[in-house]
Amino acid sequence: MDLSRPELFDFHGVFMTNYFTDNWDKVQNFKAKPDDIVVATYPKAGTTWVCYILDLLHFQQKCPEREKSVPIYGRVPFLELTYPPYPTGTDVADTLPTSPRIIKTHLPVQFLPKSFWEQNSRIVYVARNAKDNAVSYFHFDCMEKIQPEPGDWKSFLQRFKDGKMVFGSWYDHVCGWWEKKQTSSKIHYMFYEDLVEDTGRELKNLASFLGLSPSAEEMREIIRRVQFDVMKENPMTNQRDDPTLDFSVSQFLRKGKVGDWKNHFTVAQNENFDEDYKQKMKNTTLRFRVEI
Ligand code: A3P
Repeated sequence: MDLSRPELFDFHGVFMTNYFTDNWDKVQNFKAKPDDIVVATYPKAGTTWVCYILDLLHFQQKCPEREKSVPIYGRVPFLELTYPPYPTGTDVADTLPTSPRIIKTHLPVQFLPKSFWEQNSRIVYVARNAKDNAVSYFHFDCMEKIQPEPGDWKSFLQRFKDGKMVFGSWYDHVCGWWEKKQTSSKIHYMFYEDLVEDTGRELKNLASFLGLSPSAEEMREIIRRVQFDVMKENPMTNQRDDPTLDFSVSQFLRKGKVGDWKNHFTVAQNENFDEDYKQKMKNTTLRFRVEI
């Protein structure tokens, strides 16, 4: 297993590493199914949380045994990931025994394989405010040995603003998917902050988008299981067995809060960030909350 940190390079206008481009032809030619559910996010927006919620909504009753034996990354393939000796995300997705398939991707909207659009698959997009997203991404890159060197927080924040991150610019990502959502009823656009504020409400909205009607008891159980502290203790969701993650540096389920950015941004960094943000986001109707 190669645990060296990869180089970042410009790939069709988006910064990427080889772990997400080496299987490109298969990713682009991936055959979607009409009942596939795609979870699309910029990294660190709450992907694992929503993948787990979707998995429980669909399989809590049907396959209760997987709660004890199949980690979330085995239930929800990461489409563009190719990291030998593990099977590629496309291979895992092609051989998933259950349906519907829940498939995770961090691809910006223009890179989503066209088959998902042709098949009218449903897409759940999760977005998180830029400041908390950047902080979470920084801690993740410090612990994830197959991400590029994060450098210090100051230089990381500059790279975040410049879009020199794996999967490119946060601004382009959240806005690109937001624009697409305006013309597609197949996209459910969610916010991490809303999920923290009222998990039950967001679950109901998700269930309704997916045409599911879980009982009150099932809902209560899902809400309980997807609480931050419960997921952190759960070996199926806390990623403790991932050999590429260095848990002596940080945690995968690290804080799970809205507003942790206040513990990282200096006053000057915050002012400068806000100024730059206004410029970059001036042409969109998309709005985020940085505290709740
Ligand atoms: P923090 O680093 O701010 O704690 P992803 O799954 O996209 O990599 O996102 C990881 C982020 O989502 C981490 O943020 C993680 O703690 C947070 N997260 C995961 N499960 C959560 C939950 N149940 N409640 C709140 N936040 C959660």
